[in-house]
Amino acid sequence: MIDLGLTGRTALVTGGAIGIGLGIAEWLAQAGCAVALVDRDPDALAAAATVVAAHGTAVHTVVADLRVPDAAVAMVDDVVATLGGLDVAVNNVGSLGGRTPTRFLDATPDDLAGIVEQNLLVTTWSCHAEARRMVDDGTAGVIVNVSSGESTRPSVTMPTYGAAKAAINHLTATLAVDLAPHGIRVLAVAPGTTLTPVVRAAFDDATVARYEAAHPLGRLSEPADLGRLVVALASDLGRAVTGQVVFGDNGAHLSRNRPT
Ligand SMILES: NC(=O)c1ccc[n+]([C@@H]2O[C@H](COP(=O)([O-])OP(=O)(O)OC[C@H]3O[C@@H](n4cnc5c(N)ncnc54)[C@H](O)[C@@H]3O)[C@@H](O)[C@H]2O)c1
Repeated sequence: MIDLGLTGRTALVTGGAIGIGLGIAEWLAQAGCAVALVDRDPDALAAAATVVAAHGTAVHTVVADLRVPDAAVAMVDDVVATLGGLDVAVNNVGSLGGRTPTRFLDATPDDLAGIVEQNLLVTTWSCHAEARRMVDDGTAGVIVNVSSGESTRPSVTMPTYGAAKAAINHLTATLAVDLAPHGIRVLAVAPGTTLTPVVRAAFDDATVARYEAAHPLGRLSEPADLGRLVVALASDLGRAVTGQVVFGDNGAHLSRNRPT
């Protein structure tokens, strides 16, 4: 039997109430972690806690809007006080923060700055609080940032999103070097278009088929695909891996542009 080394570990997942974050939380729970779900939506969080707890692990919820810098510190303090430590931190909050994809010339200054805040700044504050706590506690933990396939290729309706995710890739590499002496690994996973309930509701069948055809593997990811990937990287299977951006996108990044 292979021991993944995650049994009895503690994990947090930001934006864990729905979609990819919930898929990751479910897989970490199945791998044996106690899981903290962090989200700004209390109703979705309560429903997600029931789903994750069904895997038989301890579940804790934290309601927070992580755009506030101090919220990340409070989140980590809460998780460590409740679950007894922090071994795996998955920084999954991102997307467009409730905005719709917009061409650069049509975006407002608030759109442009808000998307950078929602992705780069939220991930930065979260990494900062998590890394400080892991170092203070002497925990050789793992931090996984959720990036995007759009970090490496043009997506003209999401210009600052792709740029902010590319900056997250760079932050990931830099922190991997800086935190390596503490035994902390820092990684990023880059989903392609993923059939979360929100994405599936926004795509008609013809759009799903067109997107599938644009992916070398001919399929779109499900949230559980990212869950599998995070478990592999955060577990002992990934113990030699740090600083990498791993694309869980069915090969989408190998094509030059996002389908429109
Ligand atoms: N869905 C996709 O196709 C796709 C593709 C590539 C990358 N991604 C990335 O995957 C991650 C998850 O995306 P998703 O589509 O599963 O879900 P999502 O981004 O739509 O929402 C996930 C959860 O995050 C919470 N949230 C949003 N902003 C928050 C904040 N500031 N503080 C606390 N909680 C907040 C929401 O309440 C929600 O429950 C994001 O980083 C996104 O950029 C998604």
